[in-house]
Amino acid sequence: MATHKLLLLAGDGIGPEVMAEVRRLIDWLNGTGLASFETESGLVGGAAYDAHKVAISEADMALAQASDAVIFGAVGGPKWDRVPYDARPEAGLLRLRKDLGLFANLRPAICYPALADASSLKREVVEGLDIMIVRELTGGVYFGEPKMISDLGNGKKRAVDSQVYDSDEIERIARVAFDLARKRGNKVTSMEKRNVMKTGVLWNEVVSAVHARDYADVTLEHQLADSGGMMLVKWPKQFDVIVTDNLFGDLLSDIAAMLTGSLGMLPSASLGAVDPASGKRKAMYEPVHGSAPDIAGKGMANPIAMIASLGMALRYSFDMGELADKFDAAIATVLESGLRTADIATKGAPTVSTSGMGEAILKQLQKLHG
Ligand SMILES: NC(=O)c1ccc[n+]([C@@H]2O[C@H](COP(=O)([O-])OP(=O)(O)OC[C@H]3O[C@@H](n4cnc5c(N)ncnc54)[C@H](O)[C@@H]3O)[C@@H](O)[C@H]2O)c1
Repeated sequence: MATHKLLLLAGDGIGPEVMAEVRRLIDWLNGTGLASFETESGLVGGAAYDAHKVAISEADMALAQASDAVIFGAVGGPKWDRVPYDARPEAGLLRLRKDLGLFANLRPAICYPALADASSLKREVVEGLDIMIVRELTGGVYFGEPKMISDLGNGKKRAVDSQVYDSDEIERIARVAFDLARKRGNKVTSMEKRNVMKTGVLWNEVVSAVHARDYADVTLEHQLADSGGMMLVKWPKQFDVIVTDNLFGDLLSDIAAMLTGSLGMLPSASLGAVDPASGKRKAMYEPVHGSAPDIAGKGMANPIAMIASLGMALRYSFDMGELADKFDAAIATVLESGLRTADIATKGAPTVSTSGMGEAILKQLQKLHG
């Protein structure tokens, strides 16, 4: 069995607490021989600043480059609010995304039946929901030039952000979406604003061309991003994979996230290009939530987003889909049994700690493994 290298970057706040549950599962996977992982640990965010005065050290960046996948906790907190801008905790995350070339952000929105009542939408609208938002992560209006605020000299100022996309950037993200759809419900919905934006016209053209050329077996639909947002809250189960740009993806994935209840439940993956020589792609897996300073150190954090992020690593970096399915099944069964961390418990109901939830998921995995 191949041995895979993981770099664990726990970060700040609840990051180390939820990462401890990932370590527990990696130890079990190694111990049973279901997988073989070699792990290294590093510092990122405020923890790296305290040790090295940077948001991530060059040595840890080298480990990230050499790893098969980075498993990332969370960064930030009030303690580092005043550190120099370039060394702020989030700079570590941005450096990892940039240097590893992670252009595809995958955010699943899954609504476990046991948690359907935690959503702000009606149970029948969200129960059993399973959609994947594929967001372009390294281009578009967040990075396009010119990007500036200029003084017009008459007491007024002008701010400019530029939405820029090249056809090859659109093509590679479209391919990620089509490949994913083939392993899921075989449908892709592409969202842009071609009615008012040139980048939307090109986006639509390139996605359609890639589809016709290489993915005609996948159903493709196009929606304007604003009506797509409406559809996400009206009838989200019509979607399988949604592919969209950096800005619309930022907004739409947050909307989709809230369909499922708590931030503590949401994993994500960020993928780079496949290296033609090795067939491997750089990847980082992280929960969507932040470092939650309000509950850090109290053993209250929900570890499910972090554990499901490891599950995504099994699926998307290591081709261990069956094992990833078992992770998802174990989480669903534990939730069905009524176990809840504080963030997903109904008021007044009993709750378990971070490690209590992690242990229960491990026990369920052991059962599934026989
Ligand atoms: N990717 C990241 O590392 C990331 C993402 C978002 C925010 N941040 C940083 O985290 C810090 C706090 O930001 P915030 O409060 O806006 O967002 P947050 O996600 O840390 O917390 C928002 C709320 O959700 C709760 N929450 C989050 N994760 C939880 C979990 N696993 N279990 C139970 N409850 C959970 C928190 O207690 C809090 O009430 C800031 O410094 C921010 O910059 C980091």
